[in-house]
Amino acid sequence: MRVLSGIQPTGNLHLGNYLGAIRNWVKMQDEMDADSQCFFFLADMHSITVHEAREQRIRNVRDMAAALVAAGIDPDRSVLFNQARVPAHAELCWLLNGTARIGWLNRMTQFKDKAGKDREGASVGLFVYPVLQAADILAYNATHVPVGEDQKQHLELARDIAAKFNSDFGVDLFTLPDPIIPKESARIMSLRDGSAKMSKSDPSDMSRINLTDDDDAIMAKVKKAKSDQEMLPETAASLTDRPEARNLVGILATLTGRTPDAVCAEFAGRGFGAFKPALGEVLVETLRPIRQRFLELRTDDAALDAILDKGAAKAAAAAEPTLRAAYDAMGLMR
Ligand code: ADP
Ligand code: TRP
Repeated sequence: MRVLSGIQPTGNLHLGNYLGAIRNWVKMQDEMDADSQCFFFLADMHSITVHEAREQRIRNVRDMAAALVAAGIDPDRSVLFNQARVPAHAELCWLLNGTARIGWLNRMTQFKDKAGKDREGASVGLFVYPVLQAADILAYNATHVPVGEDQKQHLELARDIAAKFNSDFGVDLFTLPDPIIPKESARIMSLRDGSAKMSKSDPSDMSRINLTDDDDAIMAKVKKAKSDQEMLPETAASLTDRPEARNLVGILATLTGRTPDAVCAEFAGRGFGAFKPALGEVLVETLRPIRQRFLELRTDDAALDAILDKGAAKAAAAAEPTLRAAYDAMGLMR
């Protein structure tokens, strides 16, 4: 098994990033057997599709690296790096641009969403984004790619590109990757609006729990979170029309590794006056050690850069044979 996944290094990490992505990686790493390997990287080359000042981009990469290590990614067991340090990603992307079809990219819903109405004004990078993602995956012959539901289409594209390249050049080079999409994919919603996802771009800081929030701030945000006057039901099925209640129950369930039904059963007949302090307590206890590690790690840029350098060297060595074989299959001599 070769597990690989990437995350864009965006600033202001929050509970949604942790429960929706980072924590799943840590679980996969911890469940690996001796023959398997995990590659986790910061998709900084993908992040150029959104303009960012130089200093901020540098900070974001180091912060995301610190957050991953703080959350439990062990750079000695997993290969942890950022794309820009491993040129194989950009090189293989260019080779695969000969294989990927404009028609395939035109069908990508993420491009349509992100480009919005002004398609002509969108960057070429945003359009080709899924080809770079395919290169990320195929360079390592990854077999399993843990991603959110929204990335399923990009994974299918990576498989299509791999199959077409193999057949066009008569080689058996690229492995077709399988997505791993968590069954109950933890989609954490805003604490102010149960129909909007928790996001760093929400103007209200009360809508999210940041990785840097201290114990008091976490508790205060949970207590002020939007909820309702009703009691908690016996089962989660009755929460369908109560988005805020469903979100808070979902967060506690995810944090404690239980089903929403089990959480409802525990609090049935009681209101949010009883539920919120319990949720706040679990959040505080879960996030405190991660925050402390994160704040400590991010004061030492040299140590973070050293981790990424070491990871990049391992990644480059792992990608090299595939990259070389791809050039060779195409008759490009280097
Ligand atoms: P944001 O919405 O705050 O800009 P990003 O789009 O940068 O977050 O997401 C980074 C990662 O965190 C992605 O893997 C994404 O799936 C995950 N993620 C972000 N917000 C949430 C959320 N509210 N619930 C679950 N996962 C999330
Ligand atoms: N596009 C992914 C996201 O936005 C991030 C990503 C880039 C990725 N390259 C990848 C995920 C390769 C898995 C494999 O979440």
